[in-house]
Formats: sequence, structure tokens, C-alpha cells
Amino acid sequence: MKIKTIISTNKLLGCHYPQRIQSLILRNYLESRGLPNVLHVTSLLDDPDIIRREVLVDEGITIVVFFSMGQVNNLSVSDFEALVNFLAKSQTEIHFALEAEIFKSAKELIALRSNLNIVENSKFRSIEYPEFKKAENKVVNFVTKNHLSSKRDYQARAKDEKPEYAALAKKFDKDYWDGSRDTGYGGYVDDGRWREIAQKIINHYGLNDHSSILDIGCGKGFLLKELKSLLPNATIMGLEISKYAIDHSSPKVTDCIVQGCASEVPFPDNSFDLVFSNMTLHNLYLPELFKALKEMERVSRNSCWLGVESYQDERQKWNLMRWQLTCECFFTPSEWQWIFSESGYRGDYELIYFD
Ligand SMILES: C[S@@+](CC[C@H](N)C(=O)[O-])C[C@H]1O[C@@H](n2cnc3c(N)ncnc32)[C@H](O)[C@@H]1O
Repeated sequence: MKIKTIISTNKLLGCHYPQRIQSLILRNYLESRGLPNVLHVTSLLDDPDIIRREVLVDEGITIVVFFSMGQVNNLSVSDFEALVNFLAKSQTEIHFALEAEIFKSAKELIALRSNLNIVENSKFRSIEYPEFKKAENKVVNFVTKNHLSSKRDYQARAKDEKPEYAALAKKFDKDYWDGSRDTGYGGYVDDGRWREIAQKIINHYGLNDHSSILDIGCGKGFLLKELKSLLPNATIMGLEISKYAIDHSSPKVTDCIVQGCASEVPFPDNSFDLVFSNMTLHNLYLPELFKALKEMERVSRNSCWLGVESYQDERQKWNLMRWQLTCECFFTPSEWQWIFSESGYRGDYELIYFD
């Protein structure tokens, strides 16, 4: 199935909505209707001839979603009506979506269009993207299966020397990666688990060889390596604070990793289709965590995914406290949701628990 989405918007306060916001609204629209999340094309259009061509020229398209078409306001009512009727008769399945409304037929949209001033002046401006809001912060699990498959001896981790071990671990240097088990991984090697996770991420976000992807806190780049091998022509980048991890990263991706901190991501706005971060941001103190979440939103033009540690009850909290070496964020799921909302992070997330 091939879907084309066409966006036509007026300017609001002098700007069009950012492309990534439009893409999120469209993604949610498609998902909520059980349609595949394939944004074949999104274009900003207000020319009826171009719109006609968009539908006619591109063969094999089964669904066209017009977003905000009611706002094409430089057309006369009769031109608008003719265009909508033309589209409604085409072979493709046509969806009309406005921020607040879903139109099942061309007739409904035309009826609304004749009253467009009301949409633009009251309804439209008073709308807080209800569909978009629903799309925020979905739980998407990629790593829980692996996390649960490891057995952990929590008590063995709760040694008296733990504070000293933690201080060493927090340098994210050799002790953390390839030193003793007390101060970190005890030898961080590629055990083959990342392939399946990379494939799941690609499938979920509809990534392809044209996609650009950033992994924040990518460690030795094992997941990046799998993403690169599955999508050899995609733009794959990592950001990592640890020089040791970069120096010992998989040679296939070393050149893709930039040294830096998650709270100051050294890339321009809207640089990546997907920005994700696995088991990294809970290592930050709260002010840096907020900055890092804002940074994820800033550099992503479409999707974000975040995996962090959490707990749901006192047992999980105790286990987490005994197990962790570098964690600074001990938050319940509702606290995480509060942080997402306060920081403006709208992406997906996964919380892992220690049972
Ligand atoms: C538990 S490891 C996770 C590594 C990798 N994402 C994974 O899933 O295997 C935590 C990672 O966060 C990195 N890190 C910690 N603080 C960071 C920061 N402020 N900015 C960027 N990376 C950071 C560490 O160096 C380490 O690579």
C-alpha cells in the first residue's frame, strides 16, 4: 500500500507549522485509523493544479491524505468545490483531515469550507492539536525482552565499597566498560543482541536507506553498527560522552560517533528522522535531563524514542538502587511522564524495571 500525504496550511502567526509537527499529526492520524505509517510524500501546497497533478501523476498510490485542506483559502468557493469533487472521484482512497475534524466525505468538507471563516477564526485557532496530543509519549518497547532475559544478583552488587565503585563507573572510562564487574559491565562486548533490536526500530519507525538516525549515548556503537548494516545508505550518527567507548567502538561506526554531551547536542534543528537514546539519560542530573530531552526534540524532525530505568514499587526501587552504579534519576512512570510533559518531550519511551 502506498500512501501520499499532502499538507496545505495557512500561516499562523507568520509561520507554517514545523514539518515535524505536521508529520507527527499525520502519523497519529494514520495510526489511529489502522493505516500503515508510511509518509510517502508530504508537501505544502495551495495550488489546485499542483494538487491535481500530485494525485494523478504518482501511480500506484492507494490512499491520499489531505491535511488541513480546508485552509486552502486562496481558492474561490467554486474552485475549491471543483477540486474536492475531482479528488473524491479519483481511484484512490481520499482522506481529509483538519486539526480538529476528520471528514468522511468531500461533501462534509465543502460544507465546512463554506463556513471557513469560523474554522479559521475560532475553531482552528482555539484548537490545541487534539490528535497530536494523543500521539505524545507512547510506550514502545524495544529492549525490555533482553532486559528481562538477564538474571541479576542484586545482593552481590550491594557491597560496602559501592560508593567508590560508583564514583569510578561515573567516569565512563575503562573501569566502567572493560574493568571489573563491580565498577561496570566487566567487559562490554557485542553479544549479538542488537540485530533484532535494530530491526524492530527500523520496522516501527518505517526507516529506510534515506533516513537519518541519531543515537544519543551510543556507547561502543553496537546498535549503530546493526542499523548501518541493515540500512547501509542511511545517515547514522552517534553521540557519546565517553572517549574510551568511542576509541573501543565497532570500527564500522567509529567515524559516525561524535564525542559530546546529551544536554548539548552538536547538530542543527530538525537534523534527524529518528533520534533515540537507550539507557543513557537517567545518568543525568535533573537540570541536564531536561536540557537533553529538549535537545532530542530540537534535533529530531519526526520521531524520538527514549529508554530509561524506572520502578513501580518499593521492591523494584530497592533492586534498582542496589543494581545501578551511575543512575541519578529514580522516578516512577508517572514522574517520567510529568518530566516529559514539563520538558516538552513528545516522543516515545520505554521504561525498564528491576524485578
Ligand atoms: C548504560 S550505557 C548505554 C549504552 C548504549 N546506549 C546501550 O544501550 O548499550 C550509558 C551510556 O550513556 C553514556 N553517557 C552518560 N552520560 C552521558 C552524557 N551526559 N551524554 C552522552 N552520553 C552519556 C555513557 O558513556 C554510556 O555510553
